[in-house]
Amino acid sequence: MREGKHKIETNGFSKDLLKEEKIWITGGSSGLGLSMARGFLEHGAEVLICGRKEDKLIKAVETLKAEGLDQVHHFACDVRNYDEIEACMHFGLESMGGITGLVNNAAGNFISPTERLSSNAFQTIVNIVLMGTANATMALGKHWLKNQQSGNILNIVTTYAETGSAFVVPSASAKAGVLAMTRSLASEWGAKNIRINAIAPGPFPTPGAWERLFPPSVQGLMDPKSRIPLQRFGQHEELQNLSVFLMSALSPYIHGECITIDGGEWLKGAGEFNDLLKIPEEMWDKLEAETRKAK
Ligand code: HXC
Ligand code: NAP
Repeated sequence: MREGKHKIETNGFSKDLLKEEKIWITGGSSGLGLSMARGFLEHGAEVLICGRKEDKLIKAVETLKAEGLDQVHHFACDVRNYDEIEACMHFGLESMGGITGLVNNAAGNFISPTERLSSNAFQTIVNIVLMGTANATMALGKHWLKNQQSGNILNIVTTYAETGSAFVVPSASAKAGVLAMTRSLASEWGAKNIRINAIAPGPFPTPGAWERLFPPSVQGLMDPKSRIPLQRFGQHEELQNLSVFLMSALSPYIHGECITIDGGEWLKGAGEFNDLLKIPEEMWDKLEAETRKAK
């Protein structure tokens, strides 16, 4: 098992790669959203982060500014509320002099047997993930189209948007909707110079996800790393590299695509005979003899 920090190259792109970009990230106050904000700022972009909690946003902005990353703005809003999202967009347009890119990253999730969920619990997740993404995409898309501006949208989904997953059914349903939205709008808005893609991360440790998906009792029962061929979790710098690439002029012909970054996790879960990895090396002589008997 590969423990510890894996070396990731973080100087691969020119530091002014995103200097023309003004990027709005929903849910940019913690976790992966904050890491992507850092990656964009480090490559010259101006960034607006939003989330529900003002104190969390202020702390994130202070952290980034302490690192010398000054071009960051914040606005408190709930992505479930279209009026609040529109107000956030107008704040971004005024404070940054425009918005060139949107990262739909805000999400809600927790593990639960589906039959234990109330209707409100299901709706809460769908409203944050699917409607939150729709709200920001619609508000900014309308603005770009009205003003004949180009734009670039990146939606953060999950690998189970494609495969589905037990115990996170509202999230899987909503993320599948976001993936369908990504592909649908790629066709609808492509000719209007609005690019749209998605990233499907595997497990990248964040307090927000771990508290809700891998609480201590679950950690005692299963080792999520054992599901991953590379046998380690993702590191935030790896997602930063991919998101910087997709939000930049290095990737203008990638459109309507969902790029998985999961150390091979979903493939390992999918392959019919992948469980044979559990067979000890020394047992293969015996197994070969048995299988050769079949004529
Ligand atoms: C069952 C639950 C529950 C739980 C809440 N509810 N938590 N039901 N099990 N653990 C129910 C409540 O009882 C309520 O229903 C309804 O859900 C809404 O709950 P609220 O607490 O009122 O909602 P709200 O304050 O809006 O908070 C939303 C939240 C919360 C989703 C519940 O966890 C949150 O703020 N999450 C944001 C951050 C987050 O989830 N990050 C992780 C993303 S990770 P009733 O019927 O009682 O009113 C991710 C990664 C995926 O997506 C892939 C990983 C590999
Ligand atoms: P996180 O740390 O909990 O971040 C969630 C962010 O969304 C926070 O900034 C939160 O701020 C904001 N948010 C939540 N509900 C909101 C709402 N209603 N309105 C506005 N903002 C809201 O989670 P994360 O692990 O970084 O996840 C980020 C994204 O990556 C999500 O889309 C998630 O599905 C995806 N993802 C994560 C993993 C992983 O392993 N971590 C794997 C696959 C996909 P407030 O609390 O202040 O609102």
